[in-house]
Amino acid sequence: MSDQRPILTTRQGHPVRDNQSMRTVGERGPATLENYQFIEKITHFDRERIPERVVHARGAGAHGYFEAYGTIGDEPASKYTRARVLNETGVKTPMFVRFSTVAGAKESPETARDPRGFAVKFKTVDGNWDLVGNNLKIFFIRDAIKFPDMIHAFKPDPVTNRQEAWRFFDFVAAHPESIHMVTWLKSPWGIPANYREMEGSGVNTYKLVNDQGVAHLCKFHWIPKQGVRNLTSAQAAEIQGRDVGHATKDLYDNIAAGNFPEWEFAVQIMPDGPNDHLSFDPLDDTKRWPEDQFPLLKCGRMVLDRVPDNFFADVEQSAFGTGVLVDGIDFSDDKMLQGRTLSYSDTQRYRVGPNYLQLPINAPAPGVKAHTNQRDGQMTFYVDGTGENKHINYEPSTLAQGLREADKPAKEYHQPVEGKLGRYQTSRTEDDYAQAGERYRSFEEWEREDLIANLVADMKECPEAIQLRMVWHFWHADEEYGRRVAEGAGIDLEKAKALPPLPGRAAPGQRLKAETYTDGSQAHKVAAE
Ligand code: HEM
Repeated sequence: MSDQRPILTTRQGHPVRDNQSMRTVGERGPATLENYQFIEKITHFDRERIPERVVHARGAGAHGYFEAYGTIGDEPASKYTRARVLNETGVKTPMFVRFSTVAGAKESPETARDPRGFAVKFKTVDGNWDLVGNNLKIFFIRDAIKFPDMIHAFKPDPVTNRQEAWRFFDFVAAHPESIHMVTWLKSPWGIPANYREMEGSGVNTYKLVNDQGVAHLCKFHWIPKQGVRNLTSAQAAEIQGRDVGHATKDLYDNIAAGNFPEWEFAVQIMPDGPNDHLSFDPLDDTKRWPEDQFPLLKCGRMVLDRVPDNFFADVEQSAFGTGVLVDGIDFSDDKMLQGRTLSYSDTQRYRVGPNYLQLPINAPAPGVKAHTNQRDGQMTFYVDGTGENKHINYEPSTLAQGLREADKPAKEYHQPVEGKLGRYQTSRTEDDYAQAGERYRSFEEWEREDLIANLVADMKECPEAIQLRMVWHFWHADEEYGRRVAEGAGIDLEKAKALPPLPGRAAPGQRLKAETYTDGSQAHKVAAE
């Protein structure tokens, strides 16, 4: 029977007749420079790795689809947004999702205590929409300029090449806004059992804009139909001892078995504006919007039903970004969202290449071909769709040829902006402890025990100055919380309580006073007397 398998070739299309031996002069002689087939093979191999993601390097991905309910809670979705992906029912919007850990390298254990990235690409009829979030729904910091410092402190020490608890807590001790996230992270919620049994969220605040040009602030959430399951440190250590990729395996095995994971999509909504009556700033991503005041309004569902054919092509090369929005979904002034939006496409032009959006995994859905006048650059794979006249790679053209602008919506949304350019703190009150304390008290006792044990182990690795300040923070979140960490780690609670407030910060719970700059502009910066 003849062998029907395809013939092995080089990328030049030449058939390969011997893939087992280099060309050498005689059986034991030297190799020669014109050995093209060998050189092509080895030099391509030498370039197989691209830089891993600077954060979220370890991940797994899956394809699936999204179906809108056409409603947001009990109301038509169109009341809030003109985004077709949330309005049109009976449409299966193709999706790609990448789950990840944050600090570890590309092959690091998936049992790490770390937030889990939850990055989603909707390939909608209006072009792509990316929602790049996490499972814990909040973040450590609320100003993007702090991100590189934060990541430096969380990633391995430049000398020891190990993640060091004292470096993590050295950063955290100076940032009370991170205590809420740390309380989640050091509890069992910091190690989700796998990627299927965890929540997701966009974390940052966005806007929904309707066809009247009216905007609402919103947060996006994923609710797993599988439920939520987390691990204690001991359970995670046991899994890690036999498998460092258990979460990828769980995802792939379940999809292969036809047990497709599913999440409901929900939004929280509040009117646009400063919302001064709230005790927290809705643009502060270190806070949750309390669900009793801002219920999760369901608006669709996502099903993951296909694993990638090739990990590198789809998962490694996938590129998500917070700037990738569709009409009807808009940016808020959340300072993290604004800073992130520069960072993602910037790193992807470096990590994957300037034409990363031409790759199938990142390009819009096949029915939504990109037509741009962007040309050339490394790895140009094709010329983006042009008009009839292929000479015209500019716009406008007096000949009325080439590409044209899209029609404007009937009612545009223009955000009013007024202010003095400057550097401001986001928080309107120094209320960085209330939600951390609520979270501590809402945990079940086994979760509190795991949280305290994890923090005690970390505190023992920290110098006294960091220990005292951390106990001061925990105590302000909840007195029992602070006391248990202090007792467990042998830290002097009275000495910790006697610390003064952090320089430049109001005392916990104190309202911030507007500081007036010499030019008359104001910023909430210092404690009210
Ligand atoms: C100012 C703050 C932030 C900056 C500058 C930043 C920057 C980055 C960068 C450079 C990457 C690598 C992207 C790539 O190579 O493709 C990344 C990945 C990621 N970030 Fe952020 N990030 C920030 C905050 C956040 C926050 C608040 C979240 C959670 C809501 C988040 C979630 C993610 C996720 C999920 C990924 C992985 C995306 C993927 O799976 O490819 N980041 N971030």
